[in-house]
Amino acid sequence: MTHWSAQATIPVERAVSRLAGIDLSDVAFSAVFSDHMLMAEYRDGAWLEPVLRPYGPLALAPSASVIQYGLCVFEGLKAQRGSDGAVRLFRPRENAARLNRSARRLAMPDVPEPLFLDGLRALIRLDQEWAPPAGSGALYIRPCLFSTDESVRVKPAERFAFVIFTFPFSAYYAAPVDVLVASRHVRAFPGGTGDVKPAGNYAPTLLADREARASGFDAVLWLDGPERRYVEECGVMNFFAVIEEAGALRLLTPDLGGTILPGVTRDSAIALARDMGLDVDERRIAVDELVEHHRAGRLRECFGTGTAATLVHIQRIRHGELDLVLPPVEARTVGPAIRERLMAIASGREPDRFGWVETV
Ligand SMILES: Cc1ncc(COP(=O)(O)O)c(C=O)c1O
Repeated sequence: MTHWSAQATIPVERAVSRLAGIDLSDVAFSAVFSDHMLMAEYRDGAWLEPVLRPYGPLALAPSASVIQYGLCVFEGLKAQRGSDGAVRLFRPRENAARLNRSARRLAMPDVPEPLFLDGLRALIRLDQEWAPPAGSGALYIRPCLFSTDESVRVKPAERFAFVIFTFPFSAYYAAPVDVLVASRHVRAFPGGTGDVKPAGNYAPTLLADREARASGFDAVLWLDGPERRYVEECGVMNFFAVIEEAGALRLLTPDLGGTILPGVTRDSAIALARDMGLDVDERRIAVDELVEHHRAGRLRECFGTGTAATLVHIQRIRHGELDLVLPPVEARTVGPAIRERLMAIASGREPDRFGWVETV
């Protein structure tokens, strides 16, 4: 049993590659997984030496507390190939920090930043052929930390595994989306875990998601729990609206009040909008305010941001009996410009003045 040390090279158990025959410019989200995964175990208060090994099933006891009580937190980030052939990571430190905020909320140990980042870089270097060609998608990266304790006592766990695996994908949403304002369910509530990423945040959203899809919508627009008045998030994305005020455009997004995930893409979109000279307000946004702006012709754009989709335009918001149909994407300026710059910086087409991108 060797303990993890930041200086040590990560041992590799090579997989027989499954890449041949896969068209990386046309692959659905989460349809095939890259050859390797990183795995590290935590026992007796310390991290053991990580290993890069073939992607495949894990051995877990049925009593493992990840299965019984959902002791799992995760992250999502992307690596992208540029036209120079290089593969780049986008703001991976933010994901390392957010994973640890999530871990602390569930009384789990931190993953040391060098274990997260060096493990991630080694994995991406090893499987870099899996990154789709420039302009045709990205490699999605899923780090997760979960408990392997064999115990059905409800108590903080002692043994954990940290795993990172990846997969190529072409697009998350192919077209602008229609969203349905949630009327029965809430995603997060004050004092809960809405501002971090435990696996347990996601399972309770699936019924609302299925109902929205059955009615022809692509995602749920989540409202706050206590009042059911304020927009919080859009599916698994942060929400933005563009309103026209006295001839100028303003970007609005809900402020991070503890029930909203601080998205890395959200933060980047706000920075880019300000860089482009736009005013950005981070504050509560009532659905009624959106309805009012729409009625007055001031609601110019709405969009969601997140790692997988980058930025997806919203074309229709359904709220009870009301249908807010938004201007066509061709008539929009803010969302398309932010999307373009986000993609250009992440792929190395635009110089990175923000220090967001790292080549592996
Ligand atoms: C609930 C939720 N909101 C927003 C986001 C967007 O966050 P990011 O931009 O860091 O991917 C995600 C994805 O991680 C999410 O799960």
